[in-house]
Amino acid sequence: MRWTDLDVPATAPPRVLIELYRRSSQQGKEDPDFLISLGIALRQVWDMAGAVEAFQRAEALDPEGFHAFGELADSLYMLELDDDALTVINRGHQKGFSNWNMEYIRASALRRLKKHPQAKEALRNAVAMSTYAFAAAEDLLAYAAETQDGDVLLDACDALPSTYKTSAPNIAYRAAAYSLLGRRDDACALIDLDRQVVQVAFEPSRTFESLRAFNAILMDEIAANAVAYREFPGNVPPDPAALRNNQLNVVAAKAYPALAAWLRVIIQKELERYRADTSSHMFVYAPEAGYLYTRGYIHRHAEHNGLHMHSNAVLSGVYHVRVPDEAFNPNEHLGVLQLGLLPPALKNFVPCWRQHAIQPVPGIVTLFPSFVFHDFAPTRSEQPRVALGIDLRAAVPE
Ligand SMILES: [Fe+2]
Repeated sequence: MRWTDLDVPATAPPRVLIELYRRSSQQGKEDPDFLISLGIALRQVWDMAGAVEAFQRAEALDPEGFHAFGELADSLYMLELDDDALTVINRGHQKGFSNWNMEYIRASALRRLKKHPQAKEALRNAVAMSTYAFAAAEDLLAYAAETQDGDVLLDACDALPSTYKTSAPNIAYRAAAYSLLGRRDDACALIDLDRQVVQVAFEPSRTFESLRAFNAILMDEIAANAVAYREFPGNVPPDPAALRNNQLNVVAAKAYPALAAWLRVIIQKELERYRADTSSHMFVYAPEAGYLYTRGYIHRHAEHNGLHMHSNAVLSGVYHVRVPDEAFNPNEHLGVLQLGLLPPALKNFVPCWRQHAIQPVPGIVTLFPSFVFHDFAPTRSEQPRVALGIDLRAAVPE
């Protein structure tokens, strides 16, 4: 497989970029393109209000040249300004801008406004517009799962365009439908965690002295640019103390690039194993070209990710960087990674496959299929639980 991220240069941390954008726009004439770049950088540090302001100023300065309708609408959606988000999408359409992502944002806003028929229509539009609208495909199937009827769910899986047949949402919900229908063999042909979960221990090079020292550096790199986030606004109550850093490939980072290089080797090895025996089904499929998509998480107390799957990925995983002492008590379930749950709409059912509860251990990466729903149990600890979420995503043309 060709790694398309190998040559992506490390960037300055988002906060440094934002400061530079801010300073230069104070010095000279305000430039709309610059303001759009500022808005995009502010989104990375989850400053959605600041991003909206930057995009709106860019549009006011150059209404004809403005193109960041999707980014502006999504920032408004994140601020729960659903009507404003819909207005921006419509304005973008009038100016000739439309893409699957704008349809997806429209669907998300409509869903929160409880306009479900219109939301479903927007999701169907998104899926029809692009072969990469995996998030829209997932939401469409989540709607079907709400019926709690296996036949309805299976029909919804079959109704997706054929290019979505090999996608994480389709496999996840198809397996859930088989489980509801009591088709155990069909379900376990898709989800069989005994064969689909792989754990590998990382050994840092001597320059890091020890694994403990390496993980301490990695934790500092994650904490340095971590920001409060809400990854699944429709799914989890907002938890302002949970922190995320999705910009780890920054200049001067030492631990992250070393770990990323090792992860590419591990994933490549698994990919070769999968190509030799596709019955292991760990991958959604084997892409010709792909890239590593990672983000660091810091959670404490009652925080957790929320039940989710990785609709855009072909393989997923997590590397645990730090685990509170409380999570090492085998009698408690604190902090464990829970793999193989059913999607949120089916939480009252028990899947027919065996679920896995994995004790997080610093220095070990756990790889699992992107189509497996998962979460982790809160640690109830003051000490942080630090993890690196990992995706292999297939490279797609822009
Ligand atoms: Fe995840």
